[in-house]
Amino acid sequence: MTAPRPLTAHPAAPLRGTTPVPGDKSISHRALMLSALAIGETRITGLLEGEDVLRTAAAMRALGATITRDQAGVWRVSGVGIGGLAEPDDVLDMGNSGTAARLLAGVLASHPIVSVLTGDASLRRRPMARVIEPLGACGAAFTCRAGGKLPMAIRGPVHAMPLAYRLPVASAQVKSAVLLAGLNARGLTRVEEPVATRDHTENMLRHFGAEVVVEPDGAGRVITLAGQPELTAADIVVPGDPSSAAFPLVAALLVEGSRITVQGVGINPLRAGLFSVLWEMGAKLSVENERTEGGEKVGDIIAEAGPLVAVETPPEITPSMIDEFPVLAVACAFARGTSRLRHLGELRVKESDRLAGTAALLAANGVRTEIDGDDLVVHGLGGPPPGGGQVATLMDHRLAMSALVLGSAAAAPVRVDDAAFIDTSFPGFAGLMTGLGCHFA
Ligand code: S3P
Repeated sequence: MTAPRPLTAHPAAPLRGTTPVPGDKSISHRALMLSALAIGETRITGLLEGEDVLRTAAAMRALGATITRDQAGVWRVSGVGIGGLAEPDDVLDMGNSGTAARLLAGVLASHPIVSVLTGDASLRRRPMARVIEPLGACGAAFTCRAGGKLPMAIRGPVHAMPLAYRLPVASAQVKSAVLLAGLNARGLTRVEEPVATRDHTENMLRHFGAEVVVEPDGAGRVITLAGQPELTAADIVVPGDPSSAAFPLVAALLVEGSRITVQGVGINPLRAGLFSVLWEMGAKLSVENERTEGGEKVGDIIAEAGPLVAVETPPEITPSMIDEFPVLAVACAFARGTSRLRHLGELRVKESDRLAGTAALLAANGVRTEIDGDDLVVHGLGGPPPGGGQVATLMDHRLAMSALVLGSAAAAPVRVDDAAFIDTSFPGFAGLMTGLGCHFA
């Protein structure tokens, strides 16, 4: 364990400037996994070089893919083909990353090898039963700690069965795990999701040549994948991560006199819920230069400071902004009126209990909040909250960044006990934010 890195955000100067953000985390994990299963060499540009994604790269190497880094963000992957993964000779440590662990469990479940997955103390507390349950039906055997926790051993069958599964919770990770297992099963794998979740796996499977059919089904979708396709290497451009862009954008909305542009941000509608909620709150936020890069919509997003009003988020929007609620709650603290962020039960099983962590972050800085069932109620102050608090980041990068955004716009500095976990998703966060006008010490 490395020593904790405390960091304090002091009131910022008006944020100004134009900046890109690092590559999308979800897309980066998928790019490495699918290119490792494709035949030929894939060039990935804009890969997120955060710790979570570096864990996936190391795991895919341990499973036999050849992965090299040409220059910052530019990587080459020579895949082994579906069914071609080698048994790793050591435990695969997925660090802090739930996405890496759950998606990889899907890949491994249908390969006839034995593997063991583990992670850091945060990941070892997170539920894996949600993937073990559906993946077992392909013939894989799982052994894990009590309560479905890592470490977990997986023994894949010689001939995997295709899967048919209806998701009990809206989870792109579980959907993706099932689809990835279906890659090495003969026949059709079918996933029903009651609410649509991010579709990067489906998009990228098609990009590599798999046959994926997506049919609307009420608020959700039915996804069918034809098993054992030949995936062919295909270059990938990773867009900027909207979940990372959220931090400088919200900071600019809150610090008086700010106006910034974040370039090349992914605006896939299944990821862009935060932006529509902020519009509803009266945020001066606009998207320019919309284009499609590598099969994903991207745009440049401009944020300008101004007053905000409270909002109630409808339950069906939750999956499209699942990682953005801590920073949205910070925005709600500055808004006029009481906000209710609904249907946040899944936040309890993120890198930390993010529902409790977000409420505690605000309470420590003079903002009244309540947790009402699965809802978070934030009593907005109609202006900057007092700040001055200490925030426990609980091994959770998004709580750390949200607290530092709050401290940039509050009346008094906000201190986080450990900013180290920010590197899992947003390497260079402090430099980028201080380059725009923030004052971190
Ligand atoms: C992700 C899905 C979401 C999200 C996570 C990334 C993905 O998790 O919170 O950061 O890449 O599929 P769930 O599937 O658990 O909602």
